[in-house]
Amino acid sequence: MNVFYTTLSLQNELKKLAENKTIGLVPTMGALHKGHVSLIETAKAENDITVVSIFVNPTQFDKQEDLTNYPRTLESDLELLKNVKCDVVYVPSPEDIYNNNVISEKFDFDGLEKEMEGKHRKGHFDGVGTIVKKLFEAVKPTNAYFGEKDFQQLQIIKKLVEKYHIPVKVIGCEIYREKDGLAMSSRNLRLTEQQRKEAPFIYKTLKKAKQLFTEKPITEVKKWVEKEFAKNQTLILEYFDIADINTLKSAKRKGRKAKYRGFIAVYADNIRLIDNIPLN
Ligand code: PAF
Repeated sequence: MNVFYTTLSLQNELKKLAENKTIGLVPTMGALHKGHVSLIETAKAENDITVVSIFVNPTQFDKQEDLTNYPRTLESDLELLKNVKCDVVYVPSPEDIYNNNVISEKFDFDGLEKEMEGKHRKGHFDGVGTIVKKLFEAVKPTNAYFGEKDFQQLQIIKKLVEKYHIPVKVIGCEIYREKDGLAMSSRNLRLTEQQRKEAPFIYKTLKKAKQLFTEKPITEVKKWVEKEFAKNQTLILEYFDIADINTLKSAKRKGRKAKYRGFIAVYADNIRLIDNIPLN
């Protein structure tokens, strides 16, 4: 396994290593877990060379506190990547990526960036678009892999590639869950024992909402979820929304041909957890 700490050294090596080969990129912010491993396994199965990037991207955090507290576990991440036989790891520094100008490019993702997470995390998707575009430029992957836990992010990255004509196939992979249903996330590391015990309530509620969705109007499903969370002392609901999977616009009524997902964001103290579920 080769580890590169600068974009230049990565590119020099890829020039030699990847001639006429396919590259699968798994972009991450580290604190790797089984969800990341499943993305890496998929990338390994579908490409000649697998590159994992680890970079905690400052421009996508809307709160300094969240950036400061984001788990950083580089040593154990590298160990894990060695064990899963990842070919190349790219760990650039903020200086390398942003050249002392830590700001985002401004994007228009045809409105996808304005819904849900976009309403609650100002500038988040400009930050994501900025870093993912830079990673694509640095690695020039054939395929890039993203988890569906961040479904809005996935749709936005597909839009980025389409709008900027970036020659990479963006592949979404199913949400990887703990045995008790909690969606795997690096942020789960920050939960207290009590919060961790309570956290599966999120997916349990999403599953019941999916059941209700078959019988009830959208407004009633939303109200029901809000009521369920109002009873929970540990998990504070920021939003639950039902949206069309393509436009990500909040749905008022079910359309006959549309596909919907339920999207949720919840706080356990200052730890923000998101999840989603296909509804039809
Ligand atoms: O999903 C993430 O971990 C991040 O948003 C990403 C795609 C690596 C960009 O920093």
